[in-house]
Amino acid sequence: MKSFKSSAWILPQPVLIIGTFDKNGKANAMNAAWGGQLDMTDIIISLGSHATTDNLAQNPEFTVAFATAETVVASDFVGIVSGRNMPDKMERTGWKAEKAPNVNAPVFNVFPMTLECKVKRMNGERGGGGYLVAEIVNILCDEKYLAADGKPDVEKMNLITFNPVQHTYIQLGKTVGKAFSDGLKLK
Ligand SMILES: Cc1cc2nc3c(=O)[nH]c(=O)nc-3n(C[C@H](O)[C@H](O)[C@H](O)COP(=O)(O)O)c2cc1C
Repeated sequence: MKSFKSSAWILPQPVLIIGTFDKNGKANAMNAAWGGQLDMTDIIISLGSHATTDNLAQNPEFTVAFATAETVVASDFVGIVSGRNMPDKMERTGWKAEKAPNVNAPVFNVFPMTLECKVKRMNGERGGGGYLVAEIVNILCDEKYLAADGKPDVEKMNLITFNPVQHTYIQLGKTVGKAFSDGLKLK
């Protein structure tokens, strides 16, 4: 086994697109890989100081969409430039924003699935950053991506994951097992 110095190499990492409104109701989006599920209803996201954190400080509601192979260029773009210093950041993505039904935050039309979230706690001293804990209050899924049983069909979505080792995005592949089930063979 070869050893490597401590790095942010948890695998696989999500590509979360965080949508917020600024104080004038203008939509912004950023890319975040350092986030995950905290418990049945809550998520946790590690945030630096961004236009997104400025927006959350005055309106603690946001959306989280999952980036796809089709949206990779604009999803990376919103992780490279800040709404703080590029006023037409969102126009450049081509994404259309609508207000989410249950939170004061934008839903972008290009993503199969979007969480509507409310901040419960923000913690940190790095210029408004740190980490946030938020409640998922509703989940939206474009009907095109529903399975026959009416639930979201993740395999249809072409979701991507962030590879922090090579700094690439990798498309999720096919189902290889059944959770809480395949392991029973060894019980
Ligand atoms: C692949 C990728 C992952 C990122 N993950 C995070 C993250 O987890 N937390 C964070 O604060 N910033 C993260 N960023 C950086 C922000 O997306 C970036 O600073 C962005 O410009 C912030 O936009 P805003 O200032 O308009 O809110 C990531 C960027 C990329 C490209």
